[in-house]
Amino acid sequence: MSAYYFPIKHLHVTAVVLSITLFIIRAYWSVTGSALLQHRLVRILPHIIDTVLLTCGLILAAIIGPNQPWILTKIVLLIAYIGVGTMAIKRGRTAQGRLFAALIAVAIFAYIVGVAITKNSGSWFSML
Ligand code: HEM
Repeated sequence: MSAYYFPIKHLHVTAVVLSITLFIIRAYWSVTGSALLQHRLVRILPHIIDTVLLTCGLILAAIIGPNQPWILTKIVLLIAYIGVGTMAIKRGRTAQGRLFAALIAVAIFAYIVGVAITKNSGSWFSML
């Protein structure tokens, strides 16, 4: 195992926590129509954090060998999370639609965390 594995994993999980925290704050501002959403830092920071999250995830996957079904599941669901997430923050036309998209995005995120912890595509359900 590479000596870099645990520091990179730590960075990955730190980015995970920051990503969902910022997402929930931004989704709240989006639903309530707050101008804070347009702040420069609020617009740039999530991209930096999400890039760190994905890059560290890909490096970890490369170290342990990416040929695992649960890693593919995470990549596919990350794309879904980003897609539904942009509907919640930007593209949703009504506040109600943005709230609905935000709740779906958080549910997808919770499912991905379950995939990470169980190392099974069935996520939390694989523990039943
Ligand atoms: C929103 C997206 C993601 C979330 C919420 C997430 C969450 C997590 C969490 C919580 C862990 C720690 C698991 C543990 O300690 O048992 C983890 C580890 C890991 N993640 Fe992610 N991850 C995401 C995206 C990705 C992506 C896209 C990849 C691959 C391209 C990836 C690859 C990995 C790998 C290889 C590990 C290390 C597994 C281990 O050694 O325990 N992750 N992830």
